[in-house]
Parts: sequence; C-alpha cells; structure tokens
Amino acid sequence: MSTFEILFFGDVVGKPGREGVYYFLEHHLKRKPDMLIANAENITHGAGTSEKHYQDMIGHGFHALTGGNHTFDRKESFEYMNTAERMVRPANIAGRQIPGRGSRIVDVNGVKVGILNVLGQVYMANYNSPWEVLDEELPQLLNVTPIVFLDIHAEATAEKGALARYASQLGASAVVGTHTHVQTNDARILHDRTGFITDAGMNGTYESVIGMEPLAAQKRMTELGWVKMEVAKSPQIQINAVRFVIEAESGQCLSVEPVFEIIQLPEHISLG
Ligand SMILES: [Fe+2]
Ligand SMILES: [Fe+2]
Repeated sequence: MSTFEILFFGDVVGKPGREGVYYFLEHHLKRKPDMLIANAENITHGAGTSEKHYQDMIGHGFHALTGGNHTFDRKESFEYMNTAERMVRPANIAGRQIPGRGSRIVDVNGVKVGILNVLGQVYMANYNSPWEVLDEELPQLLNVTPIVFLDIHAEATAEKGALARYASQLGASAVVGTHTHVQTNDARILHDRTGFITDAGMNGTYESVIGMEPLAAQKRMTELGWVKMEVAKSPQIQINAVRFVIEAESGQCLSVEPVFEIIQLPEHISLG
C-alpha cells in the first residue's frame, strides 16, 4: 500500500499570507507532503489572483490553486486564466464566457489527482447549483483517478457539510470548506472514505479581522460611507492548513489533520 499526502492551505491573504506560507514550508514543515494546494482567491492584496502571484505560488512548489468569489476581482484574471494550467476556479459561476477550468486533473510525479472547486449558494451571490456540478464532474474525474480533491467555497457551515457528504457518497477523497477564513474544529472522515473539514481557515496576519486591518473592518460596520479595506500587515502570521493522508490505489482517506500555527517572520522579509 502506498500513501499520498496532500497539504492544503486555506485562503491565503495578501503578501503576509504568501510570505507566511513560503516561510512555513521552508522552515517549519516537519514532513514534506506529496502535493501542495492552496485557496488563492485573496493572494493579490486580499482580493483576487493576479498572474504574477499565481506564478509566484507555483514557483514556491504549489501543484494546484483553487478559487472563490474573489477569483475574478481583477480584470487580468479574465486574460490569463485560460492558460493557467494549475488554477482551478469555481465550476459553477453563472455565465457562458468564464475563462479557465472548474475541474482538472493535475499530475504529481505520475500520480493523477482530480481537483474540483465549487461555490455555495447560501448567503452568497447568484451561482449555479453546486449539486449539479458534483453530479457531472465528480464521476468524470473518478473515471481518470481514484484521488479527487474538492474545495467547497461557501459561507454556511450546513451547506458545506451537506455538500461534503454528497461528494463523499460520490467518491471524493478529500473535501475542504473555504471562504470564512476561520478554521473549524471538526476534521473527520466521512463514510470511511472522505477526509473533511468544514473550513480550512486563513493564512495571513494573525492580528487581523479575517486577514484585513481590524480598524477598517470595524469602521465598515459602524460608520456610514465606504471604508477601504486593507490587508493587515504584521510579521506574526497565522498558518491554517489541513493534511490528508490518502491510500493512493483506492483514494480512501486514512487521516485528516488540521494545522494551526502562529509563526514569526524575520525582519528582512518585507510585507510592504
Ligand atoms: Fe477568502
Ligand atoms: Fe471567498
């Protein structure tokens, strides 16, 4: 029996998130996984995924990036997304002209991994049904490989739990929730098959409101008028990830373990 390990990082927010994750991979990670995936909807200044930052993450060893409601916040995303072979944007964005792919097979040193990304519908914008996407896409990915990873980018915990159980019945190996930026304490294996956590959490400045400047977040809720949100910048970084150990031949998840660490970036790393 051979195992395959996936380390997934929840929403990476801005430069503190990117630099924090890179530093964690180089200096704090005790066991190297076979595959690195991250949710990248906030990697560029907290909103969106620029081509430069997409390339930067891939250059730091990420095999695939997933997306969310912020993936197309930047106009340039519409231009490079069709050629970004390791980007998996949400599969159920409404509209015919959305570039990029919502599901794909990524080859990791000869092991094929199916990656799928969907958006929730509860307390979110008007997206197509994620349930129909699971019905259509999961069997297609499972025809190619037994290892399928799903990122459910959604607000409501119940919606993520229900979708994860449906994906498990269909045969997914690993399911993470993303979007709330708050890691949940419920990692478990569903149906003796699927590793699952309701939300993987956030990578970025520890002293923040979901990665953003606390005062701006506070003002937005208490004062009339528009307040610009800025990424919070401090060398104390929160690392939120989830480690899945999967039996490679069958795709069965053997263990799922959350990672929550606070690390200190050295002064020479600029967050500006
Ligand atoms: Fe996010
Ligand atoms: Fe989001």
